Amino acid sequence: MATFAEYQNELYAQGLTGHQPQYPVRFADLEEKASAAMTPKVWEYVAGGAGDEHTQRANCEVFKRWGLYPRMLVAPTERDMSIELFGVKLPSPVFMAPIGVIGVCAQDGHGDLACARASVRTGVPFFEGTLSADPLEDVAAVLGDTPGYFQLYTPPDRDMAASLVHRAEAAGFQGIAVTLDTWVTGWRPRDLRGSNYPQVPSGCLSNYTSDPVFRRKLQPGEDATEVAVRTLPIFGGPFRWDDLDWLRPQTELPLMLKGICHPDDVRRAKDHGADAIYCSNHGGRQANGGLTALECLPDVLDAADGLPVLFDSGVRSGADIIKALALGATAVGIGRPYAYALAVGGVDGVVHVLRSLLAEADLIMAVDGYPTRKDLTPEALRFVG
Ligand SMILES: Cc1cc2nc3c(=O)[nH]c(=O)nc-3n(C[C@H](O)[C@H](O)[C@H](O)COP(=O)(O)O)c2cc1C
Repeated sequence: MATFAEYQNELYAQGLTGHQPQYPVRFADLEEKASAAMTPKVWEYVAGGAGDEHTQRANCEVFKRWGLYPRMLVAPTERDMSIELFGVKLPSPVFMAPIGVIGVCAQDGHGDLACARASVRTGVPFFEGTLSADPLEDVAAVLGDTPGYFQLYTPPDRDMAASLVHRAEAAGFQGIAVTLDTWVTGWRPRDLRGSNYPQVPSGCLSNYTSDPVFRRKLQPGEDATEVAVRTLPIFGGPFRWDDLDWLRPQTELPLMLKGICHPDDVRRAKDHGADAIYCSNHGGRQANGGLTALECLPDVLDAADGLPVLFDSGVRSGADIIKALALGATAVGIGRPYAYALAVGGVDGVVHVLRSLLAEADLIMAVDGYPTRKDLTPEALRFVG
C-alpha cells in the first residue's frame, strides 16, 4: 500500500544534514517562484483567467466553505487512497489535468515529456493535451505502462479528429477526455492587454503537425506549423450532441466529457454513451460565470448516478483533494500547481508538488481518522458557509 505520508519524513530528514526542501512547500511560495521562473507572457497566460477572475478565485475559496469532521479513536496507521477507474487500479485518486501550454512551462520547451516522467515516478496519471509540444506517441512512449489519458480538442475536420483519437488509442492511452468548454477562447483580459496568445506559434501544435491526415493536405515546401496556425481552429471547433454521436463509435476507449457542470447535461451525456463526466470550469479561464466547479459537483454526482465523475478547478492542497473526494468525486485533477512546479523545478519540481499534495491528503486521513477512500463520504463534511 502506498504511504504518501512518508514524504513528510523525507522532508524533515533533510534538516538532519543541514538542508531544506529545494522546492516550495506552500502554494503561495510556489506561485511566487513560478512567476519569476516563467517569462511574463507565459506567466500571464498560465496564471490568468476569464474576466476579472472572480470565478477563478472563487474556485479556490469555495473549498473553505466545507469542513472535515475529525474522527478520533480510529488512528489508522495505514491508509488506502487507491481508486479504480475504468477497471484499472490507480495508487491515488489524483491526476494531472490537461494543460495545453505545458510544453512551454518547462525550461527546455518539452513540458509534456517532463510531466510524463513525473507521472511515471509518482503513479499520478497525466492527461496529455491535444495542444502539446511533442507528439502524443512520444509522450506515450515515456509513460510506458503508467496509465495516461488523452485530452481531445476536436478538429472540425472529422478525418483529422478520428485520426487523433485512433492515434491516442494505438499509442496506449487509456481514455479520451473531450473538452467541451473551449471551442471559443474566453475573454481573458491579461492576455488581451498584451495581445498575448502564447500557444501560437509556440511549440504546442505537434499533434496537429505530425498528424497524417493533416500532412496529406500540405503542399510541397509548406511549413506545417505555419499552415496549422493559419488554417486550424487551435482549440478545435464547436462540438455538439450530434458530434458526440459521431465521435462515440470512433473509439473503444472510455470517453470522458470535460466541462460538464449541469445535471441535465450529465443525464444527456449518459444517454449519448459517455463513460465518465469530468466536472470542471476550466479553472475559471473560460467564462467568468461565477459558479464554481465544486458547487456544481453534488448535483453532477447525483445525475451521474454511479458513472465516474472526475473533478478539477481550484485544487491547491491536500485538504482540497480530501473535500472533493468526500463530496463524491472519483478522481481529483491538479491544474496550475503542477504547471508552476514544472517551471520552478522541472520533473523534480512536479514530483515534489504531487508528492506534497498526496502527503498532506494522506496525513489528513490519518489525523482525522479516515482509513480508506470509502470512509470519505459527504457525512464526513460539514458546510460552514
Ligand atoms: C495554462 C492552462 C492551460 C490549459 N489548457 C487546457 C487544455 O489544453 N485542455 C483542457 O481540457 N484544459 C486545459 N486547461 C484546464 C485544466 O485542465 C484544468 O481544468 C484547470 O487547470 C483547473 O483549474 P486550476 O488550475 O485553477 O485548478 C488549462 C489550464 C491552464 C492553467
